[in-house]
Amino acid sequence: MYNMIQFPQIVKLPKIPDKRGNLSFFENNNQIPFEIKRTYWIYDVPGGEARGGHAYRENEEFVVALSGSFDVVLDDGQKKTVYSLNRSYYGLYVPKMYWREMNNFSTNSLALIVSCTEYNENDYIRNYDEFCDMRKTI
Ligand code: TYD
Repeated sequence: MYNMIQFPQIVKLPKIPDKRGNLSFFENNNQIPFEIKRTYWIYDVPGGEARGGHAYRENEEFVVALSGSFDVVLDDGQKKTVYSLNRSYYGLYVPKMYWREMNNFSTNSLALIVSCTEYNENDYIRNYDEFCDMRKTI
């Protein structure tokens, strides 16, 4: 199951410039490599707070900073990479089995996240040591 690990990737989304206001979009299996089962968003994050601190066994996500900016820190069990999102026409593909934290939220930032699975607490790995052990077996 875990042997099909993909890599994180910043995706530049289409941007339709218009003097009436710009428009961007993404579609299932086009700009994002999965079918969307769930959409959620994170907002009103108090200064200095962090979200995440877990990995998913199977869930994959695509994260867009619809407003403001924040960092997504992805950890493969050996190396941490910081992805700064600050434009609404860039998104970050987050494969399964990456330890994820989101921090450095700007005031009034809005994080849109789409997922390839419905919410399932059993899909979460919330213990970092357990995550690193599982990673070693991939
Ligand atoms: P969690 O995924 O731990 O938040 P984050 O990774 O952003 O820090 O979820 C926080 C709470 O919200 C947890 O009790 C489960 C609930 N939740 C849902 O009910 N549905 C969802 O789609 C998500 C993402 C979370």
